[in-house]
Amino acid sequence: MLDHLTVVSHPLVQHKLSIMRDKETSTASFRRLLREISLLLAYEVTRELPMTTERIETPLCAMDAPTIDGKKLALISILRAGNGLLDGILELIPAARVGFVGLYRDPETLQPVQYYCKLPDRLEERVSIVVDPMLATGNSSAAAVELLKKAGAREIRFLCLLASPEGIARMKAAHPDVPIVTAAVDSHLDDHGYIVPGLGDAGDRMFGTR
Ligand code: URA
Repeated sequence: MLDHLTVVSHPLVQHKLSIMRDKETSTASFRRLLREISLLLAYEVTRELPMTTERIETPLCAMDAPTIDGKKLALISILRAGNGLLDGILELIPAARVGFVGLYRDPETLQPVQYYCKLPDRLEERVSIVVDPMLATGNSSAAAVELLKKAGAREIRFLCLLASPEGIARMKAAHPDVPIVTAAVDSHLDDHGYIVPGLGDAGDRMFGTR
């Protein structure tokens, strides 16, 4: 079982993240770094997957070779910024099934409202990994995990690039069974719900919008 919170302190992750935080970093570089960092984070979030063995023949002899057990992983991207992490992870796990959850924040209630949801089948038989670069208030992350649980998912992990203490606390309260893997935990949220020091709006930075 993964810890509730894993901060990936690997020097490559930290170095790449620092370049991404710099406001002078171009959209093209931001995208490339996000893809690279997502491979390294995917390595951590897939630790301790259930394993089995398969009988194979090497050129020398037969062996029981370790393989990942069970059905293909489900990767669930929270739109739109989640797609930046998703692309890199799919390079590492090309056979994964992919789902999308679209949520926006109601300006009156500040609560997440679902506008899109398409999930892989048989979630109860898969390990699901929810991806969103920024765990800020934690409201949309908690809502996305809730949707997955309602759809049958039982083993869920959450992968982000940056987390706020507020977002981690929110997730821990709502979903204590969902381990979080992140590259860093920042200081706090500002009045607009941005992570400080953060990297700004992850979607805008990866898609070049404002
Ligand atoms: N979403 C972002 O893209 N950035 C933040 O800092 C918080 C939420």
